Parts: sequence; C-alpha cells; structure tokens
Amino acid sequence: MQQTFNTFLTEAWRAAWDDGNVAALDALVTDDYVRISKGSGKGADLVAFKAEIRAIREGFPDLKTTIDSVILDGDHGAIFWSSTGTHTRPFLGVPPTGRSVSTRGSNYLTLSNGKIASETVTWDGGELLNSLGVRHLGDALAAEAAADGEQKVVVDTMSGEPDPEVMKTFNRQFVTGVTVVTTREGETPKGLAVNAYASISLEPPLVMVCVQKTSSTYPALFASTHLGINIIANNQKDTVGTFASKAADKFAEIDWHAGPDGSPLIDGSSASIEAEIRERFQAKTHTIFVCRVRHAEVSDNEPMVYKAGRFYDGDQLSPL
Ligand SMILES: Cc1cc2nc3c(=O)[nH]c(=O)nc-3n(C[C@H](O)[C@H](O)[C@H](O)COP(=O)(O)O)c2cc1C
Repeated sequence: MQQTFNTFLTEAWRAAWDDGNVAALDALVTDDYVRISKGSGKGADLVAFKAEIRAIREGFPDLKTTIDSVILDGDHGAIFWSSTGTHTRPFLGVPPTGRSVSTRGSNYLTLSNGKIASETVTWDGGELLNSLGVRHLGDALAAEAAADGEQKVVVDTMSGEPDPEVMKTFNRQFVTGVTVVTTREGETPKGLAVNAYASISLEPPLVMVCVQKTSSTYPALFASTHLGINIIANNQKDTVGTFASKAADKFAEIDWHAGPDGSPLIDGSSASIEAEIRERFQAKTHTIFVCRVRHAEVSDNEPMVYKAGRFYDGDQLSPL
C-alpha cells in the first residue's frame, strides 16, 4: 500500500507543482477533499488548492518541489517536502523581487480508499513571501483580502474611522524633514520625495521609509537589495520638486555619486545613507521598507523643514 501510494503521490505531486498540470490531483484526492491551513484553521477545496498552485507557479515559474519523506500508518500519514523557486513575476500582489527562496513544510493526511480525503498543512503561499522578507501587517482582514484575490492584510479594521479631512489636518500638524529615496533600475538611477522616514533603532542601525505602491519608483525599489535616503538641504527646493514629480529622468540635472552598494546619493544633501532592505511590510496602499544602514555621510548643509505642504528654512528655527 505504502509503495503504491508513494508512487501515485510523487507522480501527481510533480505533475501539479513542477509542471502546472493540476488536473493530475483529481485522481489523488477524494471528491470532498479539504485542505486545512494549520495557521488560520481555514479549509480549502480542490478548486481553491489548484488556484493556489497556479498562483504560486505564476509568481515562481521555476518552482521545484521535492518530497523528502512520506510516512503512512493505516488511513493516516504525513508528507515532508521542500521547494525552491525564483520570484520573477507578481505574487499575491507583491511585485517580483528576482530572488530565489527555499521553503519546507509538512502535510498531515487522512486517507479514504487510498485517496487523500483531507490534509492539514503547516505552510501556505504567504510563507514564500516571508522567506523573501515581505511581511503582511496582521490578518484581521484576511477574508476580505482573499475575496479580492490579493493578500492585502491590515491589523486595524478601521471601524470608527475618522473623517479623512480630520486625518489630513492631523498629519499637517506634524513637522518633518524631506528625504529623497533612491535606487537603481539596472544602470538607471530612480528616486522619489519621501517624508515618511523614521529612525527605528541605533543598535542595530535600522530605519524605515514608507512608499506608495503606485509610485513609478516602487517596482525597482521593491526588487532592490539596497536603497539610498538623502535628507534634503535648505537650498535643494528644486530637487524636492523634481523628485516629487513624475519626470522621466529625474537625475538629468542632479549631481550624485554611488554608495558602496550602488545606491544614488545626492550631492549637497544635508546627510545621506545607504541601507540594505531587510523587510518589506505590506500596508494596503503602501509598503514599509525596514532597512539596515550600511553607509552614512553627513554634511554641514542645514536640512529643509516640511510642514503642512510648505517648506521652511531649517537654519532659521528659534529655540523654545
Ligand atoms: C514633501 C513630500 C513628501 C512626500 N512623501 C512621500 C512619502 O512619504 N511616500 C510616498 O510614497 N510618496 C511621498 N511623496 C509623493 C511622491 O514623491 C510623489 O508621488 C512622486 O511623484 C512619486 O514619483 P514616482 O512615481 O516617479 O516614484 C511626497 C511628496 C512630497 C512633496
């Protein structure tokens, strides 16, 4: 029984996962097959399982899965497996990172007449993103996300939502500097103005920036291993205008040099860092990049100040 089942399983598994021939699963599972996620407790039928395989193979076209071992005991069993693949196309709404991942998991089976009637799985496709350093903020709206066909998940359900105008006014009361966040797409420097910058910790030196997914810089930024963050100086108002625009070549009139890992650092900035992107938190319309600083440059140029849509001279602040 074990030998026959193993052969049967290995062939159907390889056809479905490695070749995308999901119809091969029809003979392996019962008509009322259910696949339960150990993490969320949710069940999926064969149609949903096939859709998940297709989505994973779409995002990781070179996906290869190996069954490491199968243990059977009567009508119960376990499969231990491992997979590798390269994230070359969008997956769960996340743009390609071009990176390879390895993942492993186990499925606990209940068999009926030699077919899989149900299985509890320790793994879901989101783990591929975890392996790439992409995190989703909580799971309160996972059901809504699934309905959208995208895994966009937030912690807060936003019940009792404040008026957007009040939120806008609240944000306008907050004083920040302005940064330009940069990366490279091949040899082409790219960047955008960002005031959603914060230092996270000094030890280790972690910082974060928050970037909207509709930004034209976003796909290159998402795929990058490193980024540059330039704190804009008093006399760089034109530079802010350029990087807040959608201009095709924002660097045409900009003097810059490359950081040790290639990120564009803008000459004349008040300060610049180059940081390695460690995590990419998906927060609905934006991604929060958590980065470890690898290189820093500080000049004597005073920083520009930004409040409520206006720019101020950072050298003219009067102490309280
Ligand atoms: C002062 C200022 C702060 C900004 N802060 C952010 C920010 O924190 N995150 C963001 O995604 N966009 C921010 N923007 C908007 C982008 O810079 C703007 O949408 C830009 O056109 C994006 O360019 P891109 O689509 O070529 O990447 C800011 C703009 C300004 C003027």
